[in-house]
Amino acid sequence: MEEVHLKKFSPEDIALWDVWQKKVDFSVYQTHLLPEEFGTGMNYCIYLIMLDNVPIGAIWLEKIELVKKSGYLGLFIGEPDYWGRGYGTISIHLLIEEAKVSFGVTQFWLSVRERNQRAIICYEKAGFKKVRQIGPRQFSDGSIQFWYEMIREEV
Ligand SMILES: CC(C)(COP(=O)(O)OP(=O)(O)OC[C@H]1O[C@@H](n2cnc3c(N)ncnc32)[C@H](O)[C@@H]1OP(=O)(O)O)[C@@H](O)C(=O)NCCC(=O)NCCS
Repeated sequence: MEEVHLKKFSPEDIALWDVWQKKVDFSVYQTHLLPEEFGTGMNYCIYLIMLDNVPIGAIWLEKIELVKKSGYLGLFIGEPDYWGRGYGTISIHLLIEEAKVSFGVTQFWLSVRERNQRAIICYEKAGFKKVRQIGPRQFSDGSIQFWYEMIREEV
């Protein structure tokens, strides 16, 4: 059985983004492939998603607010062959455990386009609930659609 774990991002890992962007038209799924303040802000953490010892994607928590104990989750798997095998759900559980321990975050937010049903199912499996539907607006792939804000709150 292959094992999923998270590895802290190192600057040289950024070359992987070129590889993954050749394999996936990410404009269909998401606007950002890195935290919005990547490289400048201090309020995020980012990890590679490792399948055994092979990087298959990235996951991050951004806009971390220590007082509110909240943060915004983002992720992608850059190897389409590995979509739909449960690795996204496992990665979210791992990131949440890490963020609870390292930052005390208990309130996890994310947003997702309504047509990205694979992602929505993954997020619901990982304990997220839809809070509101927003839009519609035009996205980076030219599509016009609604999107959802979702939350997972620890009790
Ligand atoms: C979104 C993403 C991270 C989810 O990770 P994943 O490993 O594929 O997700 P999981 O396998 O844990 O869960 C996906 C679920 O959707 C189902 N699914 C797969 N393809 C689907 C499709 N085309 N339509 C609807 N559901 C689908 C899977 O069967 C699975 O459900 P199940 O466990 O009940 O069978 C990954 O698919 C991805 O990187 N996609 C492209 C980029 C992206 O969308 N990023 C998120 C932006 S918000």
